[in-house]
Amino acid sequence: MSQKMVAPAHIPVLVEETVKALAVQPGGRYIDCTLGGGGHAAAILEHSSPGGQLLGIDADPEAIEAAKQSLETYSDSTLLINDNFVNLEAICYKYDFLPVHGILFDLGLSSLQLNGRGRGFSFQHRASLDMRLNPNQELTAADIINTYPETEMAQLIKTYGEESYSRKIARRIVQERPIKTTLELAQIIERVIGKRRGKIHPATKTFQALRIAVNHELEHLELALKQAIKLLGYEGRLVVISYHSLEDRIVKQIMLQESKDCICPPSTPTCVCGHTASLRLINKRVITPSPPEVQINPRSRSARLRAAERVITQDEHYSIVERLCSTSEIKANGNGWRRPTLLKMLRTVFDAA
Ligand SMILES: C[S@@+](CC[C@H](N)C(=O)[O-])C[C@H]1O[C@@H](n2cnc3c(N)ncnc32)[C@H](O)[C@@H]1O
Repeated sequence: MSQKMVAPAHIPVLVEETVKALAVQPGGRYIDCTLGGGGHAAAILEHSSPGGQLLGIDADPEAIEAAKQSLETYSDSTLLINDNFVNLEAICYKYDFLPVHGILFDLGLSSLQLNGRGRGFSFQHRASLDMRLNPNQELTAADIINTYPETEMAQLIKTYGEESYSRKIARRIVQERPIKTTLELAQIIERVIGKRRGKIHPATKTFQALRIAVNHELEHLELALKQAIKLLGYEGRLVVISYHSLEDRIVKQIMLQESKDCICPPSTPTCVCGHTASLRLINKRVITPSPPEVQINPRSRSARLRAAERVITQDEHYSIVERLCSTSEIKANGNGWRRPTLLKMLRTVFDAA
């Protein structure tokens, strides 16, 4: 297999459930913050036709290239941007793409990345310890493995990998330095904690921890979710699919907190926080893949979907539009996302609601 992204293709997870949770409607405007191979994006575009528009973001330039091809038939309705979703709000203002009807985060990695040799995400292929989603980032997994002090490394493996053997693993890593490849690292971990524990490879948690640290995944998720809420228009939907408990905890906490009118500690006799709900939870329980989906696509087994709807007044909605109109960054021409069209569409959609 070449260094580039090639088959096997990524199978999107919980597609029907995602389209339903986003309440995709014809003519709607959607953002896919984790474009990957474009599977969810294609489903959103199909259901938002005619007139739907999609802004797709991915930190990985190879994912953008892959999605450009898979979404070629929708090229008039899509705007694909290679950036980190931590810059979501700035991207939307830059391209006049707000408010929107729905925003999707399908977190983690695509099969294209996991199977792509040379990226260092998988302990099943020999590769240098890279793990950067965007090759322009500086920090790599090799930097962490070969330079971090033992205690800091143990802490990282424990916090981001929830690995109970973190100290033993960190000690052995430091002893065995320099470590150059994914397979070397996986073998070292296997020597420390033994063969497979159940179905999980012994290196799974350490690799997860490294990937999270290299890409600042949890910090970026929290910041991006807060921005996403502000970008949703009237009854806009936020849908997040996460694949491990650290991500899901952040999603759950933010959605829960934002669905409450008061977030004072329970011991406070009267509300002093002044917080008002900006979301309404759509599904009280997480949505998980059905057994047949897991059978067809075993990688879907850990997926957990949460969805919420923006609670917003008409005045708030129009003030977002007005803010957009007064933005000096609005470009008079280019890429079809022009202000007059946007305003006309927003008012039509909103007035019909
Ligand atoms: C599970 S895949 C998405 C697959 C996609 N839904 C599909 O149907 O093909 C996750 C994607 O999110 C991207 N990603 C992860 N973190 C990101 C971030 N902070 N900013 C932008 N993209 C990110 C990854 O590069 C990867 O392509």
